[in-house]
Amino acid sequence: MHLRCINTDCASTLDLHDRALSCPVCGELLEVVVGPINVTPAELKHAWLQRRCSFDLRDLSGVWRFREFLPDGYSEIVTLGEGNNPLVEGRKTARWAGLRNLRFKHLGWNPTACFKDLGMTVGVTEALFMGARVVGCASTGNTSGSLAAYAARAGLRARVYLPAGQVSMNKLAQAIDFGAEIVHVDGSFDFALEQILHEANHNLYFLNSINPFRLEGQKTVMFELLEQLGWQAPDYIIVPGGNLGNCSAFGKGLAELHAAGFLSRLPRLVIVQAAGANPLARMWHTGAAQLEPVASPETEATAIRIGNPRSWKKALRAVRDTNGFVMDVTDEEIAEAKVMIGRDGIGCEPASATTLAALRKLTEQRQIDRDATVVAILTGHALKDTDYILKSRLREPALQGACCA
Ligand code: F0G
Repeated sequence: MHLRCINTDCASTLDLHDRALSCPVCGELLEVVVGPINVTPAELKHAWLQRRCSFDLRDLSGVWRFREFLPDGYSEIVTLGEGNNPLVEGRKTARWAGLRNLRFKHLGWNPTACFKDLGMTVGVTEALFMGARVVGCASTGNTSGSLAAYAARAGLRARVYLPAGQVSMNKLAQAIDFGAEIVHVDGSFDFALEQILHEANHNLYFLNSINPFRLEGQKTVMFELLEQLGWQAPDYIIVPGGNLGNCSAFGKGLAELHAAGFLSRLPRLVIVQAAGANPLARMWHTGAAQLEPVASPETEATAIRIGNPRSWKKALRAVRDTNGFVMDVTDEEIAEAKVMIGRDGIGCEPASATTLAALRKLTEQRQIDRDATVVAILTGHALKDTDYILKSRLREPALQGACCA
């Protein structure tokens, strides 16, 4: 296994455990190249299933269970039992979106209640292996809570850069609870990310999703999902997009499974952004060759209030490789969809509801057939942003007086 530059004209390679975050030759992002897999898909499918009956820490993790496709060489892994997240059938939500076969993969049902844990288990394991003492990230909230938890578990210090006043209180509370040092940045997430990149040095191991090890963990969502579907790809997988690391990881996971002979066909990956923070959707619709950042991103779905997503080239590759597409939905559409997901007994945070909002729009516009098999990825738990729920819903006449404050 090694690291490789994603620019195919460059394709420089580095040692797997090199600390570079970008290509030293051309500056593009790096990715992990998985070594040759010398076991057949049938044998691996069997072994992965068997591990669900084991109490070994690596087998209990829904990430490390798929370790044949993960970076190796570690004597110790940092895990909180992440992954193994169920697929939940959409009922009212399916009817509302005009679909007959809708399921939710709920990544909010992870140790810190969001998908970031799936990447953090690998990222913090790598940080520990590299001898780091301090790990850091910029965050709209979820990455910071997850980083703080895994750092605490590993005995490392965590420093998180947050856009002041733009992070949900629940997420801030998590980061504090897990003992992170909080740096409030006066500006957007994009600015906070620039700040930490500027200040990062050898003493701070950087764990935003441009760190390729994070994406290795997150790609296993596709492994687990396809295992749950009996290795039959759904027609569509719908995922929210912010800094565009997660959808990139999904694309990588699908490409690797396809290349290794696990899948006969690929699902179409659909990335959904909030309309006020939609640089990739704009690029997709205009056909522009370069991403134009949104200078002042605005959306109530604060998790994805991001104007300058760093992994856009990886995300675009994921969409093109899977014959997918990119779209956006308004805050009003997100709010309606979020209520429906709650009514189905599932719940999620606002950013995750972009998926259902997008599906309703797509069936209304007849871009998706009502018989299509669809999996929507819910990225965060409903309790990640309780202010959003209370502010938007307590105005309803039936709920007035429900708040004791
Ligand atoms: N959904 C939720 C709940 C998120 O927290 C994020 C990103 C996304 C979707 C988008 O994922 O960035 O990989 O495209 N949250 C980051 C954070 C930026 O700091 O917590 P992405």
